[in-house]
Amino acid sequence: MRILVTGGAGFIGSHLCERLVEDGHAVTALDNLSTGVASNLSGLSSSANFDFIEGSILDIELLNELIDQSDYIFHLAAAVGVFNIVNNPLASLLTNIRGTENVLEGALRRNIPVFITSSSEVYGKNVSDSLRESDDRILGSPVTLRWSYSEAKAIDESLAYAYFVEKKLETRIVRFFNTVGPRQLGAYGMVVPRFVRAALNNEPITIYGTGEQTRCFGHVYDAVEAVIRIAFSPDTIGKVINIGNDFEISINDLAQRVISETGSKSSVVYVPYEEAYGDGFEDMERRVPNIELINQLVGWKPQRDLSTMISDIAKEMNSTN
Ligand SMILES: NC(=O)c1ccc[n+]([C@@H]2O[C@H](COP(=O)([O-])OP(=O)(O)OC[C@H]3O[C@@H](n4cnc5c(N)ncnc54)[C@H](O)[C@@H]3O)[C@@H](O)[C@H]2O)c1
Repeated sequence: MRILVTGGAGFIGSHLCERLVEDGHAVTALDNLSTGVASNLSGLSSSANFDFIEGSILDIELLNELIDQSDYIFHLAAAVGVFNIVNNPLASLLTNIRGTENVLEGALRRNIPVFITSSSEVYGKNVSDSLRESDDRILGSPVTLRWSYSEAKAIDESLAYAYFVEKKLETRIVRFFNTVGPRQLGAYGMVVPRFVRAALNNEPITIYGTGEQTRCFGHVYDAVEAVIRIAFSPDTIGKVINIGNDFEISINDLAQRVISETGSKSSVVYVPYEEAYGDGFEDMERRVPNIELINQLVGWKPQRDLSTMISDIAKEMNSTN
């Protein structure tokens, strides 16, 4: 297939491009390099089956030109990361809503399948033991900027679903829970690479809030396997599906795991949320995926544990230092 991957120079996108090329597809990555980096794709630069185009999903002419040459779209381009969203709220909203609308409209024009990547952020502050795809969203005020990412991703889902129901467009929607692994940048507030980097440098590890909040982390290689299985299954069309790992750990325990597994001498320091993100910042205490649906539809379960995630990230950081 000729496949367009928006956000292909990003963390998950670059791993996905590699996998698609490996599977024999011809892949074009479109990315404006806002949080993605061209070097993520260096392993593909000599492949005859891969092209990188620097540009934006907001450039409709360019986007449609690329869609015209494609049989399938994976849409991963987005403004991501809490720091990024809080500091650039307008540009983030426009990228995440208008950009997705452009992709869906382009897919409809050609009537080709489109794969939408949403987020566990849509669940907001719902702290139930096991979040199912149909569960309620619990959000703070729309003018608490942190929630604008959740709002945008939810609108993306509703749009994609409406294109499926009304226009019979072949859409699939996934909600990634925290996904970690090589190539993820710590600069946008992503906690695991930030902790591993500090630990490797024997610098203090900064925890926002009390550290008693818990999180679940999934390995990017597991996430890409899930994406591939969902993308090419007839049973997943029109569905919304969680992708995540349901092993839960507190941020305090995560810091200790990172310190011990990297043999670090780092200490841990605590910074109040308000100091890190500004007044009125809200965070969720926990977020645990229910992964029964993905298991039932495509037989997927996470294969890699937290130790593997930490060591894979550390290995990459050591090799690029
Ligand atoms: N990593 C996670 O834990 C996680 C969790 C939930 C959802 N997601 C979603 O998965 C997708 C990929 O995220 P990621 O973690 O790889 O982050 P990422 O920042 O590495 O990837 C996003 C990519 O989109 C690109 N981009 C941004 N605006 C663009 C534009 N206007 N035009 C073209 N490209 C643009 C960026 O440069 C970047 O390469 C995103 O849609 C994100 O919302 C990721």
